[in-house]
Order: sequence, then structure tokens, then C-alpha cells
Amino acid sequence: MSGKKDGLHKGLTTYGDTGFSLFLRKAFIKGAGYTDDALDRRIVGIIDTGSAFNPCHGNSAQLIEAVKRGVMLAGGLPMDFPVISIHESFASPTSMFLRNLMSMDVEEMIRAQPMDAVVLIGGCDKTVPALLMGAASANLPAITLVTGAMLTGSHEGVRVGACTDCRRYWARFRAQEIDADEVSRVNNQLVASVGFCSVMGTASTMACVTEGLGMMLPGGASAPAVTADRIRVAERTGSLAVEMAADGLTPDKILTADAFENALRVLLAIGGSTNGIIHLTAIAGRLGIKLDLDRLDALGRDTPVLVDLKPSGQYYMEDLHKAGGVPVLLRELRPLLHLDALTVTGRTLGEEIDRAAAGFAQDVVRPRTNPIYPQGGIAVLRGNLAPNGALIKQSAADPKLFEREGRAVVFESLDDLAARIDSPDLDVTADDFLVLKNAGPKSGYAMPEAGYLPIPTKLSRAGVKDMVRISDARMSGTAFGTIVLHVSPEAAIGGPLSLVKNGDRIRLSVAQRKLELLVDEAELARRRSAYKPLQPKADRGYAKLYMRSVLQAEEGCDFDFLRKA
Ligand code: FES
Repeated sequence: MSGKKDGLHKGLTTYGDTGFSLFLRKAFIKGAGYTDDALDRRIVGIIDTGSAFNPCHGNSAQLIEAVKRGVMLAGGLPMDFPVISIHESFASPTSMFLRNLMSMDVEEMIRAQPMDAVVLIGGCDKTVPALLMGAASANLPAITLVTGAMLTGSHEGVRVGACTDCRRYWARFRAQEIDADEVSRVNNQLVASVGFCSVMGTASTMACVTEGLGMMLPGGASAPAVTADRIRVAERTGSLAVEMAADGLTPDKILTADAFENALRVLLAIGGSTNGIIHLTAIAGRLGIKLDLDRLDALGRDTPVLVDLKPSGQYYMEDLHKAGGVPVLLRELRPLLHLDALTVTGRTLGEEIDRAAAGFAQDVVRPRTNPIYPQGGIAVLRGNLAPNGALIKQSAADPKLFEREGRAVVFESLDDLAARIDSPDLDVTADDFLVLKNAGPKSGYAMPEAGYLPIPTKLSRAGVKDMVRISDARMSGTAFGTIVLHVSPEAAIGGPLSLVKNGDRIRLSVAQRKLELLVDEAELARRRSAYKPLQPKADRGYAKLYMRSVLQAEEGCDFDFLRKA
């Protein structure tokens, strides 16, 4: 046996005789028809997240075939293997509950199996973060390939796409502006093909942000799922993975503090999902890098929203692709970026910006002189109601509601919300603040995307489209409204949100970045002493691990034992 350490020689199963371990491994893999020549090559693992339950990854088989072609063209041996797949609408109680489990699956399968580099194929919201978290911990050369966005559909001449338009049409149905027949017909048009959501939701956000991080082929974020461009990106990704293996280009060389700042700039400039903050924080935490909410807010003050996609703007991902994709945005952001940050190509971000195709007239990515929104899409709020921070996606909210005081209309839990929000007896006006408690990471609901509280039916039927809503939940990146999220510490562990009562006054100031509960300290102390913590049932298995180990939003909701010290 040779003294080789790469390819099939890596991570041999322990029998106490390494020669026999390799002999046995080769014997088994030859059962699949491989030759010694093939088995002598560098191996590129390809993570398959295809699943019948995940239409956002419905093109996985085609992508894997193209990645394999790219790997073989570059002289490597491709080996695809499955990990957990998570789709937003097919994960109970939430996809967020399973993200860390998927990251552990990714990390351990990269470590356990012999490979010299790995292609991370993901798309739907939690999958790209989980892949990057696992790959960052495993620290093997890794490159991300997203499945690509779905196409848009058409309903009675109106262009529609998931999932901003899903929410818009459902809100119209609740307000009795459209009937059951129409809402059923539009249901056929909202998701016009396989691929991830076509607006700047969490999936598109993570695709663009991953390109900004340097962990993706330049220009790789925007090609729709069912296009030839997407397949070409897959083939080139496979070839690049072989080069990364030869160069030993590991994630810790790319995922630096500067790279995360670049990613935050991209997130702010695309009007990206608030979920992106949680995910970037979690990925950074795997490398011992702390993303600070105050730094995010400071970056937001001089990073304008430039990409005109829903829900902050008007277009869809396929339009961003036709406009030139993320490289056009990076060129526009150039003066704000750390240009020395390394990318998967082995070149710096600055070098990649210089190599990108020349720009042309388009109106999807605006120049910095004519932004969609003058500041970044997300602002960080603090105050006695959120001492550890809360977020508002200001670019998708109503500025008329930014500076005001309101009466709290409190829902103790998601069940309480479902039971009472549409009651004709609910004491609520359009000027009130809807407050939802116990929807954070340790609530037993695993921080669902419930922060987009529905407008109470009696108000929506009277024409109310937006209200201030406050919770410790998350919000889908495809949602919009004046919504304060990720309030931390969460109510379920006794955070100040748990002390809010019906009728309390709350002050919101986006300009001053403030969220204050206007109740005197003596009364709050009295309520605090009477507080009884929630004790959600989680007595076995993964749920028990989750409840024991999940961290708060500002720490990325990762497990305490997975972060790098
Ligand atoms: Fe998969 Fe939106 S449901 S990306």
C-alpha cells in the first residue's frame, strides 16, 4: 500500500490495521464498478439535499450530474451522498428546529467519509446555513452551489411569486377582497417551477450573502433553477472544487471577520431577510467570530438598499440574474467592502469584482446615488423591552409607524394568538401594538416565522394594512410590515417581553433605535417576582438536546456546544 493521505486513503475505518482498512474499503467500492485509476484521484464529495418533500431542491439530480461532470473534467472523482433535507413548509414545528441537526449531519458526514473537498448543494431557507455551519466546523475545502430560484407565475395578468405574493393574496382573502375560488386559482401560480422562493426571502438572501462571503463561484447566486446558466454554474463549481482540494483552500481561510462584514453589507444592500442575521451569526460562531448587532446597525447606516426585489422592492430573482447578478451589486458596493477577503477561486473579492463582466443599463441593481432605501434594510433596536436587541426590517415597513407610542394588545402564546386574533370581541384599534410572547428559541415552538402577526380580521376588513407588531419570533424573509422581531432575551426564559400586559404603553423609535416598555421599574420588579418560567415538554431525543443547548437570537440560535470557543 502507498503512503498517500488523500482521496480514498483519508479517514480509514479503525480495525487496528490500516492496510486492511484500505484493502477492505477498496474491495467494497469496487463492487460499484470503480477502477484503481478512478480510486486514485482526489475525491470531491457532493452533498445531496434532494427530497420529495423539498421542491425547492427539485433540480438536485440534474445539478449533481453537472457537478460530477465538472469534477471529472478537472481530473477528480465525484462521490455524492445524502444529508437531511429541510423544506420550510414540510418541517414541524419549524425548519429552524432542525437547522442545527442538519448542520451536525453535514459536519459529521464530511468528517466521516473520505473526501478532499466538498460541494454543498442547498437552497431552501435553512439548508445553506446548515451546510455552511457544518462545513465551517469540518474545515475541509468547501464550495456552495445553490439550487437557484423558482420562476415567477402569472395570475390574471399579474406576475406572482412565492412567497411575498402568497402572503399578499392570503391577506386579501382574509380581508374578503377576493373569494375562495380566486385564492385557490392563485395557489396554482405562486410557485411556477422547482427552485427556491423567487423574492428576496431567506433563501435568496443566503444565496447572495454566500457569494458575498466568498464561499460560492462568482456570479453563482442568481441563476434560476431551471436555466442552462444554473447547470453551467454547477459544472464549474465541480471543477473548482478539485482545484480547492489541490490548494488546501479551507473555509477558515475564506470565512474571516472581514468576509462576514462583506456579507453583512450585501445583506443590508439587498434588503435581505432578518433570518440572514441569525444564520450569519451562527456560521461565524463556528469559527469563533462574533457578529455584533451594534456593528450591524453601524454598517446599516451607510449601506443603502440597492437591489429592487420584493418584499422591499418590485422585482424577482430572475430579474436580478438578467441584470448581471450579485457581481453588479458588489461593484456598486466596492468602496464599502474589504477587498482583500479571499474567495473560493483563490482570488480576492476585489480581484473578482475587477474580473466581472462590464455593466449595462438595467434598473434592478441601483447605483449608490439612487438607492431604493437610503440606509440598510435592517435596523437594530434596544431598550428595556429588548436589552439584548431586536430587529426591524425598515425597508419593508411603513415609515409612518416608525416613531410612535401605542397600547399593547398581548397574546401569551401562538395558541392564544390563533384563538383570539379574529374574535369580534378583541379590544384592538389600528393604533395599538400587537405583542406576541413565547415564540422564541426556547418557547417549545422553536422560534417560528410567526412575527408577521395577521392584522385582526375586524381591522383588515376595515382596510388596515399594517400595524406595529412585536415578538420574540422570526419572520419569513418574504414578509413585510412594521414588525419588530427577535426580541431578546425571549419571553420563555423570563425576558422583559414576558412582563408586558394588556394596556401597557410601548414606545418605538426607529430613528433612535429604541424599544421601551413604559412601565415603572417597581411595577416591573413586582411582575418579575411573580413570573413563572415556561417549561415546554422535551424529555427525550433531539428535542431534549435542542431545549438544553439552543442559544438566543443574537448568538445565532446555534447549540452552545457547537460554537468554537
Ligand atoms: Fe423553500 Fe421558500 S420555501 S425557499
